[in-house]
Amino acid sequence: MNVVSRSRPQDLRFTSEVERATSHLYDKVKKVIPEVEWPTYAPLIARINQLKAQKNAVILGHNYMTPEIFHCVADITGDSLALARSATKTTADIIVMAGVHFMAETAKLLNPRKKVLIPNTGAGCTLAESITGADVRKLKEQYPGVPVVTYVNTSAEVKAEADICCTSGNAVEIVEGLGVPRVIMLPDEYLALNTAKKVKTEIITWKGRCVVHEMFTPDDIRSLRASNPGVVVLAHPECSPEVIAECDYAGSTAGMSDYVAKHKPPKVVLVTECSMSDNVAAEYPELEFVRPCNLCPFMKKIELENILVALEEERHEVHIDPAIAGRARISVERMLTGWKP
Ligand code: 13P
Ligand code: SF4
Repeated sequence: MNVVSRSRPQDLRFTSEVERATSHLYDKVKKVIPEVEWPTYAPLIARINQLKAQKNAVILGHNYMTPEIFHCVADITGDSLALARSATKTTADIIVMAGVHFMAETAKLLNPRKKVLIPNTGAGCTLAESITGADVRKLKEQYPGVPVVTYVNTSAEVKAEADICCTSGNAVEIVEGLGVPRVIMLPDEYLALNTAKKVKTEIITWKGRCVVHEMFTPDDIRSLRASNPGVVVLAHPECSPEVIAECDYAGSTAGMSDYVAKHKPPKVVLVTECSMSDNVAAEYPELEFVRPCNLCPFMKKIELENILVALEEERHEVHIDPAIAGRARISVERMLTGWKP
């Protein structure tokens, strides 16, 4: 984010007042944000935090947000499951999703009467874009009576056609909980194949891929281990089963974070999006994080500047066609409260 060269309004200068108001936040990120960069972030952070209080707004921040967002303006952070759960509990009038569009839609489905904002409407997801509602209808015709489990990384239109949602944090539990011999699980082929290895249920897959995780190869992991003896390798289940087979643990972004908190591996690599390591490293300065990672171009469309504009102008508001929203909400709520066909 290049905010240094812009001429800034008076209230976005790094004044001593801003410095004082944000110094406790800099302490949280000093391991990963150089001191010289702080004056570019701090005025935006101070203003965003002021506006949140004035407008009774809450910022939900996904684990892939950059550290100045994740640690300094987000009120609730976590994986997509945690963000969906917290969206059901908030008493704020405005929810700003510091994450991608499907996460904002999920928050809106769970809060139809609240204002849900996404700071950049271009924050999409290759998985969500890999399938449409019409595709799901065709699959259901092909496999009549087979329940459809959809990853939350899908549009509301796709959720409306599904029986129940899942995330990478609960996929095994959701599939097993259905108690049926066969399910359709979409759109992430790798998540479906990784889940299939852990359950007895037969899983029919779709060809969706995450642009970040499909890039990692088993060779990458082997060469990582060769150049970093003793490194503990944690990966997201959106990686291929061949990559997961080379790793020590696979889990959602929260799962990886919890693994680090519990086991404190002295040298660790998170095979996932880059900001995740920065955010966890900020909390565990004593651990060494090896950093081969891939950036998610969609998550990186969320910046402090557009979060500020979103709050100031209350844009871009997420709207979901009511005819779709009712059915999509059922799929999300079934995931959160449990359901059997
Ligand atoms: P999590 O639910 O694990 O946070 O994953 C969301 C995501 O988009 C991963 O690429
Ligand atoms: Fe989608 Fe992959 Fe980006 Fe997650 S990391 S939002 S799955 S493209």
